[in-house]
Amino acid sequence: MTNTKFTLGLDDFRQVRARIAPHIKHTPLLTSRQLSERSGYDVRLKAEMFQRVGSYKIRGPLNKFALMPDDHAQGVALAARIHGVRAVVCMAANATPSKIAATRGYGAEVVLHGTIWDEANEKAKELVRTEGLTYVHPFDDEQLIAGQGTLGLEIVQDWPEVDVVVVPIGGGGLISGVSMAVKSHNPRARVIGVESSDGPAMKRSIEAGRLETIDCRTIIDGLRVRRVGEATFSVVQRFVDDIVTLPDRDIFDAMIWVMERCKLVVEGAAAAPVAALLHGLVKLPEGSRVAAACPGTDRRGFWYSRCCAPTLLGPAMHARGAAGSMLPGDYCWLDDPRRYCFADGIARQEMAPDFFQPSLNNQVFG
Ligand SMILES: Cc1ncc(COP(=O)(O)O)c(C=O)c1O
Repeated sequence: MTNTKFTLGLDDFRQVRARIAPHIKHTPLLTSRQLSERSGYDVRLKAEMFQRVGSYKIRGPLNKFALMPDDHAQGVALAARIHGVRAVVCMAANATPSKIAATRGYGAEVVLHGTIWDEANEKAKELVRTEGLTYVHPFDDEQLIAGQGTLGLEIVQDWPEVDVVVVPIGGGGLISGVSMAVKSHNPRARVIGVESSDGPAMKRSIEAGRLETIDCRTIIDGLRVRRVGEATFSVVQRFVDDIVTLPDRDIFDAMIWVMERCKLVVEGAAAAPVAALLHGLVKLPEGSRVAAACPGTDRRGFWYSRCCAPTLLGPAMHARGAAGSMLPGDYCWLDDPRRYCFADGIARQEMAPDFFQPSLNNQVFG
């Protein structure tokens, strides 16, 4: 039974941070002049793409496993390996292939089921019943939320004066932990969530005042949830100030913007806070100190970004303009290397020419 008044404070997060410290990195909070100029705020990016497994998702499972005698998938897989536990991870069959491969690479058995997290979750529950496995929820779990919240603790430790923290929402685990950490540091600091308007499960539930199951159409896998959790819903109701939404298309464009301008490779979900800032959805007094959580990357983004140097743009990439052969979240460069399209098949604007200078790419990708 979920405790709907579940609340954690800074001391709890400090304890959890100490527990998981041997296995995680304290990721940097990077200044972004371009994002600051565009938004009118002092913006810093919590660069969690440099975390082990490429995202915050190692934090929660590590805490959970440390307390049990046992993108979430990769976090569970690595945490299980560290703690010497067998892990079976259920993922949607259309999950990002690099995430599936990485999860297997960390030693987990991967079961592919359904086309969205909610369906994979039903399979996980079935395996728990039939094989006697222990269930680890990817967002609606108090110990998991406590672990994910250590990302918020690091933000307030590195920038105690922060006014606002902007966080993407899928099932709500990350923002639950982060919001409690930030508010217990400074109750006047604001926490703003970002969802895709193509699948705003948390916003709908908050507006309705009860958990709602939505028709979720976003193709951004980190944000693709039909129904958020009971605990996460309760925490967001009490600790999150606002939730803003914008379409997949704008979030994907922000993903490219972050790669181009900040030289950071993020996955779609992780670009959502930047997208909200670029589109003026976060309304604050000028000069406000804003931390945007960029909680993850995936290898596919890294690989495509390497292809941005014109010399590396092979004919195969040029030819792949057809949306039909692409997976959710996929994007490819069109025949003109400055134009690209995502899985929706719609061509995007030209990129700034300096993005294609090999020297710039070399600085970032080595
Ligand atoms: C990079 C990234 N950010 C944010 C989220 C959303 O996290 P949560 O489901 O805890 O809300 C996800 C979920 O997979 C993600 O992959």
